[in-house]
Amino acid sequence: MSYERPNIEAMQGYVSGEQPEDPGAIKLNTNENPYPPAPEVAKVIAGFSADTLRRYPPPTADEFRAVAATLHGVTRDHLIATRGGDELLRLVITTFVDPGASIGTTDPTYSLYKTLAAVQDCPVVSIPLEPEQWQLPQDFAAQMNAAGVKLTLLVNPHAPTGHLVNQDQLRELATDLEGLLLIDEAYVDFVDPRLNYNATTLIHDLDNVIILRTLSKGYSLAGLRFGYGIAPPNLIAPMLIKTRDSYNLDLLSQKIALAAISNQSYASDTWARVRSERSRMQTSLEGLGFLVGASETNFLLATVSAIHHNQTTAKELYHRLKSSGVFVRYFSDERLRDKLRITIGTPAENNQLLTALGSILGQDLG
Ligand SMILES: Cc1ncc(COP(=O)(O)O)c(C=O)c1O
Repeated sequence: MSYERPNIEAMQGYVSGEQPEDPGAIKLNTNENPYPPAPEVAKVIAGFSADTLRRYPPPTADEFRAVAATLHGVTRDHLIATRGGDELLRLVITTFVDPGASIGTTDPTYSLYKTLAAVQDCPVVSIPLEPEQWQLPQDFAAQMNAAGVKLTLLVNPHAPTGHLVNQDQLRELATDLEGLLLIDEAYVDFVDPRLNYNATTLIHDLDNVIILRTLSKGYSLAGLRFGYGIAPPNLIAPMLIKTRDSYNLDLLSQKIALAAISNQSYASDTWARVRSERSRMQTSLEGLGFLVGASETNFLLATVSAIHHNQTTAKELYHRLKSSGVFVRYFSDERLRDKLRITIGTPAENNQLLTALGSILGQDLG
């Protein structure tokens, strides 16, 4: 006899990206930052006193919240710190969406959304992005409203395509939506600063917008599990006071996260290096015959094009790269199965990927 709730019994679990055991593997499959965290992070760890663990940590990570709030030009009441962006998603769903109510997103999207919706027993309304450029369809908000969606989850810049929706469009979308809009900015640190993208300002004049941030990508701390949400205080308060685990963030994490966001110039230097490699890699992959869309993230989505068709499929390429020690991400979904999602690594890692691809495809890279 099963003791699981029927929706839990029926659901699939989230499948994480592969974690190769070989330390020499070139790991370009889970969008981690290729550069180490700020040197101050190592100093915090080295100077951490085990004795301080006797006591419970600050329950709402107030010091971190104060520094992050200043960074975003908001007050502490506009911010909640969470165990990765993933915990924020879980809190938003369990705080604002009744079991059985609909959650909306795009197709494709971050695959964890479906898992979290299933845990809350919520159906998911997936609206396909436009072909080719992956823009939102014109009637996206109207379709969400017609389906009675209570919460729309939008990755921006988008995963796995890299496409960025600008803040004017986001404002229009949030205004038109009858429910909440969560803008998942997991990859926002890699957006070209010349685009002047800043969606945080939306929370001042719209009462239905929540922004997700994480230290996993931009601050090279995927292993730490630290993220945060920015929203009007009336949306932050119920999560902060009622639905959050009483001590959701351990003391060491809070100190490390504080050191990382206090060192903006170090982090932004890694973002600039990733952007520079992103543009080199786009050109190089196009040179190998892939179709590569513009990306404002730390990855590229490369389509196996007509010129490769007699040689290989994306799935085969993924397997052959893996055999040569290079891990990229392959998705079997209908709209993604002819593509590979490739994280931007260090210049040396990127060169190893290009060499491996060149030899599999039998092309001289010159
Ligand atoms: C689109 C998107 N949102 C949110 C997250 C959550 O990241 P974390 O829980 O590591 O902060 C990820 C992680 O890969 C992601 O790709």
